[in-house]
Amino acid sequence: MNYQKLLKSKKYKIAVWGTGYIGLSTMVYFSKKKIKCVGFDINKEKIKKINSGVLPLADLKKWFGFDIKSLVKSNYLKATSNYKELITEEFLVHFIAIPTEKNGKPYYKPLLSVLDNIAKINNNAKNPPIIIVESTLAPKVSDKKIIPFLKRKKLKVGKNILLSIAPRRDWFIEGGKNLENLDRVYGSTDKQSTKVTKDVLSIVCKKLHLASSYRVSEMVKSVENAYRHMDITLANQLSLAFPKDNIREVLKLVGTKWNVETFNPGIGAGGYCIPLSSRYILSQVKSLNKLSLLRETIKTDDGMSKFIANSIKKKGLKKIGVLGLSYKGDLKVSVLSKVIPLVKSLKKKGLKVELFDPYFTDKEIFKAVKVKTFKFPGELKKFDGLVVSVNHKLFNISKKVLEKNTKNCKLIIDHDGAWKKYNLKNNYHLTGDREWI
Ligand SMILES: NC(=O)c1ccc[n+]([C@@H]2O[C@H](COP(=O)([O-])OP(=O)(O)OC[C@H]3O[C@@H](n4cnc5c(N)ncnc54)[C@H](O)[C@@H]3O)[C@@H](O)[C@H]2O)c1
Repeated sequence: MNYQKLLKSKKYKIAVWGTGYIGLSTMVYFSKKKIKCVGFDINKEKIKKINSGVLPLADLKKWFGFDIKSLVKSNYLKATSNYKELITEEFLVHFIAIPTEKNGKPYYKPLLSVLDNIAKINNNAKNPPIIIVESTLAPKVSDKKIIPFLKRKKLKVGKNILLSIAPRRDWFIEGGKNLENLDRVYGSTDKQSTKVTKDVLSIVCKKLHLASSYRVSEMVKSVENAYRHMDITLANQLSLAFPKDNIREVLKLVGTKWNVETFNPGIGAGGYCIPLSSRYILSQVKSLNKLSLLRETIKTDDGMSKFIANSIKKKGLKKIGVLGLSYKGDLKVSVLSKVIPLVKSLKKKGLKVELFDPYFTDKEIFKAVKVKTFKFPGELKKFDGLVVSVNHKLFNISKKVLEKNTKNCKLIIDHDGAWKKYNLKNNYHLTGDREWI
């Protein structure tokens, strides 16, 4: 049976488990193609918003470039907090998009809870449902957790349940880097799962790459990110090893070589994916010495906040303003943001720290980093040192106002170049340039 045709017939639907960045975007892109999607989430607030046509993640509005109201109104997009609605035979496809980490470590409780729900489906359905895992998995998790779990629930993979691993690569900041346009790797457990996954994914994804098995597609995600983790960390190590040289400029020019990319030194690698990748891989390796490069990467990356705090303290600064809690510009995501350990290290050094991020309330900021917030730009005057950790558009103010409010500032460290264009005088440094640290 062609699952694409079945879905397009509107008799069948897609279930999406977890309606965060990944799950919600899956629902939105498939429902835009007139496929009925129902998302389940444990967060009732999100459900309510989705069902009233409001994006629970407001920062995605620009990325999508369209409203979800019409999709909700026309019944293509719906969310629920009752998982039972998703385990009927109407649901041919089950995308899994729940978190797979907790406190920076692989964590599979939500995955197993979702599988437990899916396993309650009728295992004699005419068209066996397919599970497509979009969440990031550590290598071997399918073999060690998913398949044995399904077996314990009396589901035969490849027979009465189909399975594929198709990790995501979206970059929720740039509109073009989305489910439609990005190259998508997928791998399955058997022939039927492979065919069905191709049928389903090709409704939305334009560039599909078939891996020879689910084990390969599962590893691709962690390995591609581990490469980036190592590259970013090498840039950081170089700037620590040569603090009197402009390593940022060196790396920019190194990147002019046809097969080398430019990586900028900075406050460390943040976000859901990059800093976790090396840990995901190491969590499945018996002899850690065989991957000592990844071990060193984690050690150096985790140490960046201490290096920076030490250097700021040595420069004699006392009151530091941090701009940005998100790990990336114009996104409200603080998960594994390197700002969190940086604030902790600065405070440990006895420095007074306050943080401003236009995307977070005072309460949210206090919960994440246990410091007060300040008024921007008026209260920049309070600080003798500033760390601009992201380039939120709202940090772009007039040069005159910025100069007036930073006149007491003796050091500005800018991670993403948010204030580069201003040519500020008060010891302004892009991370990685000469004597930034
Ligand atoms: N955000 C990204 O840029 C990105 C990119 C590629 C891959 N990923 C991976 O995709 C997965 C999801 O990431 P995200 O960014 O969408 O996370 P998210 O935190 O935005 O969303 C996860 C959603 O799952 C819900 N949830 C938690 N436990 C649940 C359960 N037991 N049942 C149902 N729902 C549950 C949460 O309430 C939340 O709404 C992760 O594995 C992540 O590593 C994320």
